[in-house]
Amino acid sequence: MDTRLQGQRCLITGGNSGIGLGIAKALAQEGVRLIIASRDDYPQALVELRAMGAEVELIQVDLRTEAAVAEMVQRAIRRWDGLDLYVNNAAIARHEPVTRVTAQAFHEVMDINLGACVWACREVCRHMLHRRAGNILIIGSTVRICPAYGEAAYRISKMGLKMYMETLAVEMAPFGIRVNMITPGYFSTRLTAGMSARHQALQLREIPLRRPGVPGECGYAAAFLLSDRLSSYVTGADLLVDGGLALRPLKLIEDQEILALNQSGLEK
Ligand SMILES: NC(=O)c1ccc[n+]([C@@H]2O[C@H](COP(=O)([O-])OP(=O)(O)OC[C@H]3O[C@@H](n4cnc5c(N)ncnc54)[C@H](OP(=O)(O)O)[C@@H]3O)[C@@H](O)[C@H]2O)c1
Repeated sequence: MDTRLQGQRCLITGGNSGIGLGIAKALAQEGVRLIIASRDDYPQALVELRAMGAEVELIQVDLRTEAAVAEMVQRAIRRWDGLDLYVNNAAIARHEPVTRVTAQAFHEVMDINLGACVWACREVCRHMLHRRAGNILIIGSTVRICPAYGEAAYRISKMGLKMYMETLAVEMAPFGIRVNMITPGYFSTRLTAGMSARHQALQLREIPLRRPGVPGECGYAAAFLLSDRLSSYVTGADLLVDGGLALRPLKLIEDQEILALNQSGLEK
């Protein structure tokens, strides 16, 4: 199906790694002109995307300050002489129990995950308002759905992003600017690389599809939400790409028992 994204100009934060790279690759396949923003001065992702034939540029930036984020957006606008799409993807997680939360880690998580989104969208929306068109995609997380141990700041930041996304969608909708969210579940990326084998096994048991997501699976969802052809009447939506994780079924029975129940039903 033709997404009609060909030739559109997109800035994506953290487009050099994991889910961001998965989204960048899916958009490159649709002929989107990309700017990936990362701290790295020459990420391998640039090589991979160019090998696919993508028109892609890099902006090296550390998203921790308002000034750096605003400058990133202005540079992106100058680079392609305008922006049609913005993907807010970059994030970090810091693991601290509630009795040992440090100001440094707390502020770092808030600045990169939530603050950078607010500053970038402010600049992007000022630009898009002039054109009365544009699409914004914010990457959330299923962590906002339930509490867990030792990552309060990360969960608060993702909860905040959800409300920010909805606020932005409402304020920008009258001007033809759509704003949506993808909420990934568990993906094997750098962000989750530190998880122990035991925790990974427990995590997989929580996922009805019983496997981690692959970054490209967020890529297809992003192409859908960013395409005016495919999702023109969708704004303020939160698309779960999580293998069913957010359903959080009670783990009362084993997989073999689920199978036995269903097979015996079919035999009747
Ligand atoms: N993996 C999962 O299971 C999962 C689940 C739910 C949601 N998510 C969300 O998916 C998004 C992507 O995460 P990922 O899993 O793909 O992890 P990842 O591979 O670690 O990607 C994180 C990206 O954020 C960028 N970033 C971090 N701090 C930055 C800073 N100060 N300045 C500029 N860029 C910075 C990184 O760029 P550098 O290379 O410069 O560090 C990297 O490109 C995040 O929003 C995350 O919360 C992930």
